[in-house]
Amino acid sequence: MNTFDITVEIKEYNYDELDPIKQKLVTYARKATYRSYAPYSKFNVGAAILLGNGEIVTGSNQENAAYPSSLCAERTAAYYAHATYPDTPFKMIAIAARGTDGEDLSDPISPCGACRQALLEYETLAKEKVPVILAGKNRIFIFPSVSSTLPYCFSEF
Ligand code: THU
Repeated sequence: MNTFDITVEIKEYNYDELDPIKQKLVTYARKATYRSYAPYSKFNVGAAILLGNGEIVTGSNQENAAYPSSLCAERTAAYYAHATYPDTPFKMIAIAARGTDGEDLSDPISPCGACRQALLEYETLAKEKVPVILAGKNRIFIFPSVSSTLPYCFSEF
């Protein structure tokens, strides 16, 4: 029998400690929560993706009365980014959310498994690590890469 560990180094910051580009990305993600369409969950999520061409593309969760037809903020942003700029790599991603009380969540939001899997493929295309910033109001976590959010993932066949 053999055992092995997978470890991920997550760095925690507050907003003032971030460099200006990360602050900007977090601000874009927070602003995108106001463009969420979430009449069912009332949970507003925003994602912002910095691209290699310097553009920042945002997305928010879009819900539907047929619940499974809804899409998370991360995939809304990622699919729009790659559909608009198919040759431009992703550089960094930030995610933020407001809860049912309308306030920024104090702790970071954690992306769902399906979004991690979708984002992972764009990191593979980028051929570089794409850091993921999970922005709570008080606590901001930075994962070094998308793959670090989805250890031992499915990536090739
Ligand atoms: N949601 C996201 O947009 N991103 C996440 O990382 C987690 C959840 C959305 C899906 C749904 O519209 C609402 O939040 C409640 O689950």
